[in-house]
Amino acid sequence: IVCPNAEAASRVAAESIAATIDSALKSRGKAILGLATGATPEVVYANLAARHRAGGLSFQKVVTYNLDEYYPIQPIDPLSYRSYMHRHLFSRVDLPANQAHVLDGTVPEAFVREHTAEFDRWIEADGGLDLQLLGIGRNGHIGFNEPAEWSVAEAAAAPTRLVELHPVTRADAVREFGDAAKVIPRALTMGVKQILSARAIVMLATGPRKASIVAQALRGPVTTAVPASLLQTVADRVVWILDEPAAAEL
Ligand code: GLP
Repeated sequence: IVCPNAEAASRVAAESIAATIDSALKSRGKAILGLATGATPEVVYANLAARHRAGGLSFQKVVTYNLDEYYPIQPIDPLSYRSYMHRHLFSRVDLPANQAHVLDGTVPEAFVREHTAEFDRWIEADGGLDLQLLGIGRNGHIGFNEPAEWSVAEAAAAPTRLVELHPVTRADAVREFGDAAKVIPRALTMGVKQILSARAIVMLATGPRKASIVAQALRGPVTTAVPASLLQTVADRVVWILDEPAAAEL
């Protein structure tokens, strides 16, 4: 779906999330959402919060799992994805606090594997994700699944885990951290396996900086050098929502 601008693209993404909540509540009594951070989805969350305020959308029966979190980081750090989610969505809707899951950047390293495995088990115990909202990094990352030298099969099976951030990701994060030396170089990320297992995947990409990587991910070969290209393997469940600048190289 190509929209004239980022605002319109964000509205389409928010509509699709609201429709998923509605239909999952009708069929199963709860809705399980995978959420993303970054600059791109901010307007999506503003739109969902506005729908909640207007009275049409409740998050009482919604369960959320966020894609990623810096490691290590305190949840109250304004740069944590937990605090991003609090600012943009959690504090603005009626989502019960114990139904909002963000990977914990304070877990001691010796317990990270246990924590990330538990995160995957929780998603599975909830019946899997009804919808995963995604953004794309300039290097094609989804969540913090970075370009890596491993096979497509290995990448597709990757569980939630601790990763090192790619140089392009670290360079882009200077925007948030203000200084290259302050960028936290590691993160916890949902694995490609969980992402690709979602019953619906909404990829939102806006702005001219994303045009080249969007074209590579959508039209190029399926390769772990561009993690988002793995979405081609589940194409029937993926919707790409773009604005015109992000779609310019298609
Ligand atoms: C961030 C996040 C991703 C996000 C991407 C794009 O680092 N880990 O989940 O989709 O990079 O961010 P932005 O929307 O700010 O371009």
